[in-house]
Amino acid sequence: MFDRQKKGERAVLVLPHSRGEGDAIRRGEEFAELVASAGAEVLASIPARVASPNPRFYIGSGKADEVAEAVRALEADLVLVDHELTPVQERNLEKHLGTRVVDRAGLILDIFAQRARSHEGKLEVELAQLKHIATRLVRGWTHLDAQRGGAIGNRGPGETQLETDRRLLAERVKMLSKRLEKVQTQRDQQRRSRLRNTVPRVALVGYTNAGKSTLFNTLTTGGVYVADQLFATLDPTVRKIDGLSCGPAVIADTVGFIRELPHDLVAAFRATLAEARDADLLIHVSDAADEERDMLRRVVNDVLEEIGAGDVPQLSVMNKVDLIDAEPRVDRGEDGKPRQVWLSAASGAGLEGLREALGELLGGDRIRAGLELPLSAGRLHARLKAAGAIAGEAIDEHGWHLDIDAPRSVLAPLIGDDANARSLRDLIDPPHAEF
Ligand code: GTP
Repeated sequence: MFDRQKKGERAVLVLPHSRGEGDAIRRGEEFAELVASAGAEVLASIPARVASPNPRFYIGSGKADEVAEAVRALEADLVLVDHELTPVQERNLEKHLGTRVVDRAGLILDIFAQRARSHEGKLEVELAQLKHIATRLVRGWTHLDAQRGGAIGNRGPGETQLETDRRLLAERVKMLSKRLEKVQTQRDQQRRSRLRNTVPRVALVGYTNAGKSTLFNTLTTGGVYVADQLFATLDPTVRKIDGLSCGPAVIADTVGFIRELPHDLVAAFRATLAEARDADLLIHVSDAADEERDMLRRVVNDVLEEIGAGDVPQLSVMNKVDLIDAEPRVDRGEDGKPRQVWLSAASGAGLEGLREALGELLGGDRIRAGLELPLSAGRLHARLKAAGAIAGEAIDEHGWHLDIDAPRSVLAPLIGDDANARSLRDLIDPPHAEF
């Protein structure tokens, strides 16, 4: 006899596929990474061809027997199915296999529960988890009493939640929704005030594990968590980038995109996604070494479209050039503007190219000029100062002599109905010469 290592839960994976082996292998690898992120040990992976779903188990009943056999032989603690199951299918499978069954949505929710860091992120995950559990709570867990100790799929709201009756659950969902609404309103207000004295905003988007957090850190020299795990980033983190030719910009890291993200979560991660929607520019990061990078870019673009960020201009970043033996470079479009930057976020090679591209794309409408304001324009002066638009100033009995240096998009909202703003308006929209 030997002691089984206490590593984590021991899982058998079931990998349904309908589109042939290649697709199954790719998806299998990704699912295994998800499982590792959740901290479970993979005992076996069983592909299951599903031409038309079996209403009882989702997979065919012959396949269900094969899985049951593996569970027994390997003494697995749980079965993870890489597909969304209906509550009934999950219950039927649990009875048939004699072990806990967690579907793809449940697994992703579990990882999110472990990773969420901000107050808002935690609330969002708990809410999504409770909603997911609520549809499954009716079943009662008595048929699984022996195995109930497991962690995956039970984390976050806590195991006792499963014993809580639906009424309590509904109350908690209501309370959380309310609290979340409040946090989100606060965040919206913060975002709006950031927008008011705007510097250009950039958001990093990309398929999970593309290297967004690494790039975010290299660009901002911050200490954001980077890990070779899926979904290391769950809350948007916003930082300033200095040293660009267009002046400072703010950049937000966002949650990694993934196929078949549980729907509750797409809705729940509004905060992260709003950063992408409100950005002036998206940096779409891809893993250049990934054979499927083009397909994964389409997945990301589809989600962006879904959340209303399809029209935000994009700069493509092909990351991890070190893995494909390519040199860092900047590709330009027909209009001469930067389109795609090849770099290594980890080593920093090619980062200068990205900085130049950002400066160029964000600073296209930069206004650098002198502006004279009368002494009575104190309010406008204060607003220009708050927006960071004043690069230098002098004052004498005639008024302020300002050196303005700011993007047009920052200056335009400052005009308002201020009577003193005429000279500022002339700066932004020079009056047509009259003959
Ligand atoms: P999510 O948070 O899951 O969305 O991931 P992410 O896109 O933020 O990826 P992250 O920055 O966490 O990087 C994922 C993995 O890729 C880590 O192991 C990084 O060290 C690695 N990585 C990032 N950039 C590079 C690179 O330029 N070269 C190499 N070889 N590895 C890199």
